[in-house]
Amino acid sequence: MKSSLSYEQLRAAANEYGTPLYVYHAEKIVSQYQNLLSHFSSNNTRFFYASKALTNIHILDVVKRSGCNVDCSSINEAKLALHVGFEPKNILYTSNSVSFEEIYEAVSLGIHVNIDSLSNLEKFGEKFGNRYPVGVRVRPNIMAGGNLKISTGHDKSKFGIPVTQLNELIEIQEKYNINIATLHIHTGSEIKDVAVFLQSAEVFDTLLASFPTVNVLDFGGGFKVPYQPNEKGTDIALLGAEVNKAMMRLSEKYGRKLMAWFEPGKYMVSECGYFVTTVNVLKQSGDIHFAGINTGLNHLIRPMFYDSYHHIDNISNPTASPQRYAVVGNICETDTFAWDREIPTIQEGDFLVFYNAGAYGYEMASNYNARFKPAQVLFEDGISKLISRRDTFEDLLSLQLPLHK
Ligand code: LLP
Repeated sequence: MKSSLSYEQLRAAANEYGTPLYVYHAEKIVSQYQNLLSHFSSNNTRFFYASKALTNIHILDVVKRSGCNVDCSSINEAKLALHVGFEPKNILYTSNSVSFEEIYEAVSLGIHVNIDSLSNLEKFGEKFGNRYPVGVRVRPNIMAGGNLKISTGHDKSKFGIPVTQLNELIEIQEKYNINIATLHIHTGSEIKDVAVFLQSAEVFDTLLASFPTVNVLDFGGGFKVPYQPNEKGTDIALLGAEVNKAMMRLSEKYGRKLMAWFEPGKYMVSECGYFVTTVNVLKQSGDIHFAGINTGLNHLIRPMFYDSYHHIDNISNPTASPQRYAVVGNICETDTFAWDREIPTIQEGDFLVFYNAGAYGYEMASNYNARFKPAQVLFEDGISKLISRRDTFEDLLSLQLPLHK
């Protein structure tokens, strides 16, 4: 299965739909999921795509058709998944800092829920007792992840119930006889080191005896994908083999059949996405060559927000000799995508593509500076289709009440 789009396909999409444009490749999503399946044990592992990475319903539909389940971070994401036709039993809602009303609503929808605070667990116990199996997110006090902003398991993180509050957690479980079916740990995003997941397994090992009804260990998401050329992502084959060993050991030790769940976001959709832009302006200042493009941090916030690297190519002239550029956006504040980056020589009007644009690209886009959000296009079976249109001026006004009645 071919798992990347060609320059010609990207150029054709840019010409047909205009830029800036998010372009996705369905086959790549499916091949990522199949790669996971091929390396993990099929009878004790389930994957839930972390849909916060990219929620367009056409993408969710590709995920659903691939057979993968879905993980949600808000009740609205859960409703989008239901809208697309996921069955409630294939939807997981990993909540954080939510009102109990949202958890109640999730239970009414019949989906799996992970609760991440003692206070909501207590309310859950009062309302449902042992009538609805539920998951509990614990904070393992493990530092992991690509940068501090995307690290979630350390001892100052807002996420989960700190493992140091185990006694309180057990007390609530016993007081209401809660059927805790899942223990959940998500330590962060862009975790290359397989050992971090094994550390989570060790934390589960310290907890399992206190939770007799647990039959699922949810390791969260966070598999690293390569962003830079020649960079390596998480070794999925090694991860699959090591997690399987840990699961066998824990199942045997506690005399229960335990399932492993995962919630990959970036792994599923990062590499399927391309962000195609147009160079508006070339400007030279000393030895700096600025390439000013027709988009900004409003459309792809990752470089400015996380200092993330996104590889950039000139798809209008990919074989031109490379030059060093500062690629900057059109937003009215410092808006730098790349500094001192080698790119095939650029002329005004060229299309530049950003790779790894599937995860947390469009999804984190905004209308800052009253700019239109880009359109999104999906390639499947070699054919492109528009899956969300570009904003119009009317969209900018659509939620605002008119000035004069
Ligand atoms: N499960 C939970 C509970 C999560 O909080 C997340 C991500 C995931 C799964 C999926 O993680 P992934 O496999 O995508 O690394 N906007 C940031 C990433 C934020 C991740 C938030 N939680 C970025 O663009 O790097």
